[in-house]
Amino acid sequence: MAKRDLVGIRELSSETIHLLYELADRFWGVLETPTRKVPALAGKAVGLLFFESSTRTRWSFDLAAKRLGADTVVFSAAGSSLDKGESLLDTAKNLLAMGLDAVVVRHRVVGTAHFLAQRLPVPVINAGDGTHEHPTQALLDTYTLRRHFGRVEGLTLTIVGDLFHSRVALSHLHLAPKVGLHLRLCAPPSLVPPLWYGLGWPIYHEVEKAVRGADAILVLRMQRERMQRPAIASWEEYARFYQVRPEHLASGQVLLHPGPINWGVELDGRLMDWPHNRILDQVQAGVAIRMAVLYWALGAS
Ligand code: CP
Repeated sequence: MAKRDLVGIRELSSETIHLLYELADRFWGVLETPTRKVPALAGKAVGLLFFESSTRTRWSFDLAAKRLGADTVVFSAAGSSLDKGESLLDTAKNLLAMGLDAVVVRHRVVGTAHFLAQRLPVPVINAGDGTHEHPTQALLDTYTLRRHFGRVEGLTLTIVGDLFHSRVALSHLHLAPKVGLHLRLCAPPSLVPPLWYGLGWPIYHEVEKAVRGADAILVLRMQRERMQRPAIASWEEYARFYQVRPEHLASGQVLLHPGPINWGVELDGRLMDWPHNRILDQVQAGVAIRMAVLYWALGAS
């Protein structure tokens, strides 16, 4: 069997995406049992190679692997021999020599997961590479919608925020046509990648119009760490025109955010109590989706 990497949603078929949702359903059931574990990956070891900070992705992959009975090795760039000049590839090969069966990697450089997938003999899963893709985030976002609405197909999702620097938004662009999701995009003109105007999804510069009639709103933070030059005049002005507030939302609309949230910038703090705030449900869904991805990647039967 060919090695199963997950570099991006772009490379996944619609069939595989639906298989991952179905596996996540099964693992959701496992997470509701008293032991919350299955020995599906017993004896395997998963390396979590995080060269960039993370809370949700790192620890949910760690928990997902453990819930499947695998061991994990969590690598953080800080305090490693990268300080002494060791390369990314040498670092990965040395960790592999300890007996890893799969690698999850996050890096600020676009293409890192692809680079490793081409050179390592084990499955490589992208946990976010620069502004490129964050495939498991788009899977868990849509899986959260699937659990809430019972389906993804035919739903309309508005994505509001820093589209330019968002790997989550790019993964959603690849995912939407494969699952029948309709997208709307909303950002200041300076935060819309110019090529996105030609993709066929409507692009808005007013939150009110962008969210009207949508089933769900996915709000993105301003990714300051990836901005090489100022993209907005001021945070106050951004918040004034692009912050999502309770008065923008209609009854029944689901609120999502991949996290971390800058409350008071992209989201009004009053939305913590929005009845369909599903932001922590996304985090919960992340464990089941990442169990599904690890199980699929390691070819378990
Ligand atoms: N959504 C997400 O990727 O969060 P972390 O950066 O905390 O992993």
